[in-house]
Amino acid sequence: MLSREENEYLTRVGAGTPAGDLLRRYWHPVAVAGELTDEQPIKAVKILGENLVVFRDTAGKYGLVAERCPHRSASLAYGRVDAEGIRCPYHGWKFDHSGRCLQQPAESDDSTFKDRIRQRAYPVQKLAGLLYTYMGPDPAPLLPRWDVLVREDGKRWTVIESMIDCNWLQPMENSVDPSHLYWLHGETAHLAGHVPDYGETHDFIRFEYGILKRRTTPGKKPGDPPQVDEHPLIFPSILRHVAKYKGGFRHNLQIRVPVDDTHTRVFRVSFVPSATDRSPVDDDPPFEYSELKGPDGRFNMTMVPAQDAMAWETQGGLADRSLENLGAGDRGVILLRKLLKEQIDIVKNGGEPMGIIRDPQKNEMIQFDVINERIGLFRSTDKKVA
Ligand code: FES
Ligand SMILES: [Fe+2]
Repeated sequence: MLSREENEYLTRVGAGTPAGDLLRRYWHPVAVAGELTDEQPIKAVKILGENLVVFRDTAGKYGLVAERCPHRSASLAYGRVDAEGIRCPYHGWKFDHSGRCLQQPAESDDSTFKDRIRQRAYPVQKLAGLLYTYMGPDPAPLLPRWDVLVREDGKRWTVIESMIDCNWLQPMENSVDPSHLYWLHGETAHLAGHVPDYGETHDFIRFEYGILKRRTTPGKKPGDPPQVDEHPLIFPSILRHVAKYKGGFRHNLQIRVPVDDTHTRVFRVSFVPSATDRSPVDDDPPFEYSELKGPDGRFNMTMVPAQDAMAWETQGGLADRSLENLGAGDRGVILLRKLLKEQIDIVKNGGEPMGIIRDPQKNEMIQFDVINERIGLFRSTDKKVA
């Protein structure tokens, strides 16, 4: 249980809030590059409570600026792009990628007014077809090259899930909550009737990039070896895990983007290792949209991602943690909150939070030995093996 104040401290995402300032120390995806086309090169996006537009100029360069025009507030989402930047649809003020105002068509040519105008702008980097931004203080750290994003020996694709109407910390707490598996996903994962009354253990191991979650399930019959399922929560906003896929394994990165205090967007990148498929890192992988709710507005409870989203969203737009009753099964959740509080305090005190990467050598490819013996994926001795 948290007090009202502690709850606010850990969850709010706006600039100047404790968690908002922590989240601004990390790169977050705002869109998939393929969503921007020649016909529709501008998209309104919201992230960390800020209304922005992401665009691709006619030279192919991406930009991200505040949506509201500094002249008289029209939306740049209806603007036009050219080789230099983006132009407001109302009176044609034009801005470059760094937010400088390049033109004000209704002002005289010798006016210096435009030099005193600055539109808020953030850097954009593309990786695995995702357009990432960094909204924190300079210098920006490196954009992390997680294995799922940069491996080339297989097939990669992205799913953009429909918006979830809840705060980002709810999905993240769910990522260190192994005891929900048999209940929330039991039927879909063919685990109904496997509810562990037989001493399953859960370990949460803090490591360089977050929390490693390990589930050890005793063998079904006496003499059967225990099964281990081990994968990380990458702090602060990613779940890295593995699932069965057509006789092989699908390695997943679920990137939860804090849209505002009560909305979260999940980008799910999947990678299936294969002897024949290749996914060059500079290629944009295919992507699709996934609707988690049916036409009646209810979550589609036959889909695993919708089952999770149901649990997160029904906890409330911003779950009131003063109402909860945590038990021994919630140790992972408690550890995550402790870690989050600690990292917020580090940033408040002028330090650098965990998992920030500044050494290019370390960032060639960041690999995790993710295993799930229940579905047949065992620990590799060679980490390059699927
Ligand atoms: S409101 Fe944008 S140029 Fe006038
Ligand atoms: Fe789940």
